[in-house]
Amino acid sequence: MIVLVFLFLSVAPYKYTPTGPRRPSKHARRVGDSCLPSSIFWAGRDMAAANSVPLITAYKMGKFDLSHRVVLAPLTRQRSYGNVPQPHAILYYSQRASKGGLLIAEATGVSDTAQGYPCTPGIWTKEQVEAWKPIVNAVHEKGGIFFCQIWHVGRVSNHDFQPNGQAPISSTAKPITPQVRANGIDVAIFSTPRRLRTEEIPLVVNDFRVAARNAIEAGFDGVEIHGAHGYLIDQFLKDKVNDRTDRYGGSLENRCRFALEIVEAVVDEIGADRVGIRLSPYASYMQSGDSNPEALGLYMANALNKYGISYLHMVEPRMINVGEKVEVPHSLLPMRKAFKGTFIVVGGYDREEGNTAIASGYADLVAYGRLFLANPDLPRRFELNAPLNKYNRETFYIQDPVVGYTDYPFLDSDL
Ligand SMILES: Cc1cc2nc3c(=O)[nH]c(=O)nc-3n(C[C@H](O)[C@H](O)[C@H](O)COP(=O)(O)O)c2cc1C
Repeated sequence: MIVLVFLFLSVAPYKYTPTGPRRPSKHARRVGDSCLPSSIFWAGRDMAAANSVPLITAYKMGKFDLSHRVVLAPLTRQRSYGNVPQPHAILYYSQRASKGGLLIAEATGVSDTAQGYPCTPGIWTKEQVEAWKPIVNAVHEKGGIFFCQIWHVGRVSNHDFQPNGQAPISSTAKPITPQVRANGIDVAIFSTPRRLRTEEIPLVVNDFRVAARNAIEAGFDGVEIHGAHGYLIDQFLKDKVNDRTDRYGGSLENRCRFALEIVEAVVDEIGADRVGIRLSPYASYMQSGDSNPEALGLYMANALNKYGISYLHMVEPRMINVGEKVEVPHSLLPMRKAFKGTFIVVGGYDREEGNTAIASGYADLVAYGRLFLANPDLPRRFELNAPLNKYNRETFYIQDPVVGYTDYPFLDSDL
């Protein structure tokens, strides 16, 4: 932590640009109305402090005008029965939408081989595209900007999730050893994957291309390519997984080829300004470590510049496992400096650290996972420095359409 703060401070004011006027707060208009709850007056007193909240400043991400820097991180919620997004997601996402706020949808499968968890959504069928439409509309009605995270799990799967019970596909034929699930009780068993043949790889690249087109058809403003957390793209990127001897394995350049071919195909399909990518070079989630994460992250940051994509979304080195924060001596600063587009950071951020990251120029935007999950009005709470709801891990992945999903309270009961 000390190292991270030092790095934030040592780069100030790298790439930090003052922004235009803030969106007027609802509170500013309503303070003084004697029928309002007392929390409103408390909020009003805090307005002076809110004026200097770096997270609540405007930012232009390409053609998208953001009114604040608090991004909804992609969050798998496992409530999409039969891999089809459900009507209850309309309320869930619209609760978290705000005018000029960027939301990234949960990881969404690109094909029928992409799945590895129960009830995760897809975007490869007409039915799925149609089911996304009212969800995207609801976010747009609230003025939100909505990207879809497109995903292939690769070997993080087993026969039960695969068409005809076939083996999951991967860069490798090495299986993942059984893992305790996020609930801390169940053990996930993974099947031995089938190593993709070189000539099959363009077909998977094409699945990402089609998924991106489908996302735009569903109304999304863009897509985030899921290149993080040990899933298929990461299985190619990381040298502790990728044991290929063809042009997709071995050297750094070869291991990054699959990811960059996907970026190129998706950019070609929907335009660079609608494309972001998420990477986690330092993470070893799902046994996906790399011997030189900084070199990997830097190579990708530089290579991505060629395509002019909208953003690079990077997971902090301290998140070696999703949801676990550990002290590390590394920082994303080299990648931040190398990448020319919008730089989003994620992983263990609170309000104060997010403000420091923005004010120092360490990042353009900060994504919040668990805090946003539990606080549908997180940007407003940050603006007011209001207390936060605590998240309940036990309901992260249950299939209930309400509990732990749309029942986290807003700051004011009248919202
Ligand atoms: C319930 C849950 C679901 C998640 N699902 C995804 C996902 O679908 N895609 C992804 O890239 N990361 C996923 N993550 C990781 C988060 O996006 C985020 O990187 C992580 O929670 C760290 O950020 P935080 O400390 O703000 O929560 C998930 C995390 C949680 C807790």
